[in-house]
Amino acid sequence: MTASGLAAAAPTAVICGIGAHVPDRVVTNRDLVARLDTTDEWIRSRTGIASRHMVPPGTATSDLAVEAGGRALVSAGGPPPDAVVLATTTPDRPCPATAPEVAARIGLGGAAAFDVSAVCSGFLYALAAGSGLIASGTARQVLVIAADAFTTIVDPADRGTAVIFGDGAGAVVLRSGRRDEPGAVGPVVLGSDGRLSGLIEVRAGGSRQRSSGLPAGPGEEYFRMRGRETFRHAVERMSAASREAARAAGWRPADVDRFAAHQANGRILSAVAAELGIPAERALSNIERVGNTGAGSIPLLLAQAAAEGSLAAGHRLLMTAFGGGLAWGAAALVWPDVKAC
Ligand code: ACO
Repeated sequence: MTASGLAAAAPTAVICGIGAHVPDRVVTNRDLVARLDTTDEWIRSRTGIASRHMVPPGTATSDLAVEAGGRALVSAGGPPPDAVVLATTTPDRPCPATAPEVAARIGLGGAAAFDVSAVCSGFLYALAAGSGLIASGTARQVLVIAADAFTTIVDPADRGTAVIFGDGAGAVVLRSGRRDEPGAVGPVVLGSDGRLSGLIEVRAGGSRQRSSGLPAGPGEEYFRMRGRETFRHAVERMSAASREAARAAGWRPADVDRFAAHQANGRILSAVAAELGIPAERALSNIERVGNTGAGSIPLLLAQAAAEGSLAAGHRLLMTAFGGGLAWGAAALVWPDVKAC
């Protein structure tokens, strides 16, 4: 067999199920205006967000992940996955990883399970990791979950971030299949720039602060973001990564039927779609209802769009994400015939 023949015959990860979950509690802009120096008009016009979901006290990331993961398994049917990859910025605790507990609670005890930490790009990184497990023959079915209880690390008094973030989770099931099937995970482009790690960070709680022997400074346990600078990088990186993934798939902008970008900010989404020449009506968005849900953003968006019919079998889908790290990514695939749960 030729090298290209071997590549074509190698197992490829194919999406065969999708599910999502958001907590019941809804926080509207009006709720935030009651306790923060902000306005509904500012939040809507600067971010495109009207409301977001928030975990109630005592609810953790694993609880969201178990719900979303369980729904993806129902959507997929088929044999139980032998690996679980969980992308999260807000693990239940610093050690151990949250994925093994999630696997056990979903009934996948014994499966390989690990966390991926890539902040808002977590889903695309986990998708790449899960696809790699299948391509290498290490796993035949992989549950990829992306979940964040982001509001647990947001400073409720910081109007620059408290208005943006919400909680939620999404998950896909990958099976071993062929490269030319709908749902086959196509080109994935990933990148990072750690020189800019200070733009988006939680300063305290890690080995740097602990080994200093000093307690955390005021507010250092909270998530901080230098929003204005981050905005520019988000547009540049998501545009460049999307272009690269589309080129690798052999697509021109006009070939993209649906564009699913990390729901960071409505203005960022419009700027990236315009930069790529993708018509606004092809860009999926749920930011108005859920805000920025961190790692869970893309699969939550896909599950909702698939359930509502705006994402359908055969659509050429381009996805992109950007976030803390800095880390970014993009991926292209043809959406399969799956029923979203
Ligand atoms: N209500 C009213 N005024 C506000 C609020 C608010 N909620 N938040 C900030 N302001 C004020 C600021 O204090 C500032 O006032 P000043 O001019 O008197 O100093 C003014 O509004 C403008 O502030 P900017 O930060 O320049 O506002 P901007 O238009 O950039 O919007 C935002 C801020 C929404 C954070 C935006 O910068 C953004 O979305 N950045 C990128 C986010 C992103 O992509 N993050 C990466 C992914 S998320 C992740 O990785 C976890």
